[in-house]
Amino acid sequence: MINLMKSHFLVYDKFAKKYDKFLLPAEQKFLAKWRREALGLLPENAKILEIGAGTGLNFQFYPTSRLLVASDISRNMLLQASEKSKDFLLVQADAENLPFEDKYFDAAVATLVFCSIRSPHKAFNELKRVVKKDGDIIFLEHVRPEGFLGYLFDLINFFTERLFQDCFNRQTAKLAVEADLEITKLSKKAFGIFNLIVCKNKD
Ligand SMILES: C[S@@+](CC[C@H](N)C(=O)[O-])C[C@H]1O[C@@H](n2cnc3c(N)ncnc32)[C@H](O)[C@@H]1O
Repeated sequence: MINLMKSHFLVYDKFAKKYDKFLLPAEQKFLAKWRREALGLLPENAKILEIGAGTGLNFQFYPTSRLLVASDISRNMLLQASEKSKDFLLVQADAENLPFEDKYFDAAVATLVFCSIRSPHKAFNELKRVVKKDGDIIFLEHVRPEGFLGYLFDLINFFTERLFQDCFNRQTAKLAVEADLEITKLSKKAFGIFNLIVCKNKD
């Protein structure tokens, strides 16, 4: 694993060993299916970056690729990921400040990440910088749903933001458009609580 960061206090560093077990019921019911759908949209034989890769729960769903780089801010999450596959270059890095050359990747992916990123704006800009023009940037995120549920999520967010640094009511698709990404597909799942968002990098 390439370690470019000093150790930080992070919720996910503490949670890393329990993460897969915690998510297992959701994986079995719906998440694994949606992961397969999202990762299935990545191009084959390409150079692909995943940000916030966590413990590597997406690894099994990747297409055949030329280069696979999985990055995360949490060293402990990446240590768990290292047990899942040897095919990935694991890089500890902040999505808001990626240590990669401009236009190095053909495509990028993030799942369940933008809720915990402090500045989505910076992370979107970094993705636009490191992904080639017209490259796909794919997100599978839990988001603020529309209607009454949205207000419930605003309430829940009051606690999750303080306890887990998790922004429960983030409007990721709206923020992506504000960052000048072109949304080519938006699939709402589970009453709009989850979004699969496929974007094209216009830069
Ligand atoms: C809910 S987990 C999702 C992990 C994995 N993507 C998945 O789908 O299971 C959120 C991940 O985002 C990472 N993360 C949070 N902020 C980050 C940042 N600024 N840069 C990179 N990774 C970050 C956390 O360390 C954690 O591994």
